[in-house]
Amino acid sequence: MKVVLLGYMGVGKSTLGRVLADSFKFNFIDLDSYIENKEDMSIPKIFKIKGEIYFRKLESQCLKEVLEKDEDIVLSLGGGTPVYANNMQEIIDNQDVTSVYLKIQLDELVSKLFQQRSSRPLISHYKDKSEFEEFVRKHLFERQQFYFLADYVLDLSDKTVDESLSELQDLI
Ligand code: S3P
Repeated sequence: MKVVLLGYMGVGKSTLGRVLADSFKFNFIDLDSYIENKEDMSIPKIFKIKGEIYFRKLESQCLKEVLEKDEDIVLSLGGGTPVYANNMQEIIDNQDVTSVYLKIQLDELVSKLFQQRSSRPLISHYKDKSEFEEFVRKHLFERQQFYFLADYVLDLSDKTVDESLSELQDLI
């Protein structure tokens, strides 16, 4: 079985993925880290040196590789993974996969993400918080149509990691 966690940057896909994998005794794979290991380069550096198109191809190829593994895995995607190539279709078509869209309220997301933006190439240039919020609102709206194709939706707004974990365990 594979549990695939998806959602916008900063919702906590990796944090929750790691604890869920521990509780299920599954392997945990964070797709961004998998890409960084394979390329021996950080995500910001891949974007800077090779560009986003290169990154998206690599992301799609790495997703296929992970989905083909014959083991139980909890996989956290990057925020853009479901949106590009045929990635979301691959996830939906895979009988071994249970996918969950993790969402949080916009104001909570914006506050968290504004502090963490420096390591994320798509948003690291924002200086003004209200401009940033405007971008995230539109970007999330565009991406949600892909995110909502997941098998389940879990709202993590105002929840601790423990609360989120127990809701996720009940869901899948
Ligand atoms: C991206 C999200 C990032 C990473 C890359 C692009 C996106 O992952 O894959 O910076 O397009 O939303 P996180 O969602 O883990 O930040």
